[in-house]
Amino acid sequence: MDLDAMYKLTHGLYVLGAKDGERLVGSIVDAVMQVANKPVAIALSCSNTSYTKSCIDKTKEFSLSVLCKKVDPFVVANFGFQSSKNVNKWENVEYSVCDNLPVVKDSLASFICKVLYKYPLESNTLYVAEVISADNGKNDNPLTYLDYRSYFKKDVMESFQKFIQPKKGKEMSNEGKKWVCTVCGYVYDGDVPFEDLPDDWVCPLCGVGKDLFELQ
Ligand SMILES: Cc1cc2nc3c(=O)[nH]c(=O)nc-3n(C[C@H](O)[C@H](O)[C@H](O)COP(=O)(O)O)c2cc1C
Repeated sequence: MDLDAMYKLTHGLYVLGAKDGERLVGSIVDAVMQVANKPVAIALSCSNTSYTKSCIDKTKEFSLSVLCKKVDPFVVANFGFQSSKNVNKWENVEYSVCDNLPVVKDSLASFICKVLYKYPLESNTLYVAEVISADNGKNDNPLTYLDYRSYFKKDVMESFQKFIQPKKGKEMSNEGKKWVCTVCGYVYDGDVPFEDLPDDWVCPLCGVGKDLFELQ
């Protein structure tokens, strides 16, 4: 099976927002589409490792912000390369609150959704959700997953490197040694000691597990 064929399915890029008690969480998703018009409903697929997903399971509601081609690449890095479990991602972007849920400022459109059905898959969970409200923000071109793969990802990665750079000078535990991802070279420099990260923690750059990190 040639999985590259899957990239020819057209997707946009969206910021998914949810609540974790009083805290706001979120992630980048591309697996979204409208599936009905009565009621207006969308399908959303979330990775089972996503912290935002675990919050949606509790609250059964989420927001979606449609990103435009001119979006700051850091918005994608912020929501797509790190987990809300450890980071307050919404503090790093401009947003407004609609029905208690966060939406990215200047997004092309935004939706507030309530989960109707949930279908578990091995890697993901598929949600069918009713669109409770829709805001038709501004008129511009949406960023697609194809844009991300063909040229935008480079800018996203650069913006994330700049974001994490200032932390790199920090004194690390293990006598100056650092935990390094053997797949993509990401150097862990979070505030939580690497050993204390949960077993399901994954590399924010390439998504592999803790077992593929080495102390160097
Ligand atoms: C371009 C791009 C597309 C993504 N699409 C999805 C998606 O459709 N569903 C999903 O659950 N995660 C997707 N992700 C991964 C999540 O955004 C990422 O794992 C995020 O760090 C999860 O954050 P959380 O733990 O705070 O939920 C995508 C990431 C990127 C960079």
